Amino acid sequence: MKTELLTKLNEHLRLEFRAAHEYLAMSIWLSAHDLPGFSAWMRQQSSDELGHANRVIEHLLERNQPVKLPAIPEPPTDWPDPVALVAHVLRNEQEVTASISALYEAAGQAGDRAAQIMLQWFVNEQMEEESSARALLGRLRLAGSTGLGLLLVDQELATGNVPGAATAKNAPQ
Ligand code: FEO
Repeated sequence: MKTELLTKLNEHLRLEFRAAHEYLAMSIWLSAHDLPGFSAWMRQQSSDELGHANRVIEHLLERNQPVKLPAIPEPPTDWPDPVALVAHVLRNEQEVTASISALYEAAGQAGDRAAQIMLQWFVNEQMEEESSARALLGRLRLAGSTGLGLLLVDQELATGNVPGAATAKNAPQ
């Protein structure tokens, strides 16, 4: 693997681990604020992020490339409200999408087809993750700050899905 691409892939791990860490902190905050469905959904997002980091690590290991685990910053422990929390998630996801796009570009320039195929999965995944965060932000804004509105969103999230979010089947091409 070309050194520049290898460095970028290792650097990308920081974003995935940071997201896992922050989403776990969010899950804890949501649980403490009596939103168990939302908390469980956020916990699943955290677990998904660890899976993303592991996909990159597995790819590097399969190709006998070095893996350098990053330092993970301490996550925030408080948010003004659920809207601010999800706005933070959306910004995170947009940052990850930008990193994946840059990696895909770098893999193309390096003529590294294996890395491109691995990264293609992330291109689709990021489209879904941004869609979920955007849809959830919309639901929370509609719900307003009343307890009843939040309870409804919490019940929706307990199903594991965000209404209106694109899925692998219906994501725009
Ligand atoms: Fe792995 Fe949500 O980016």
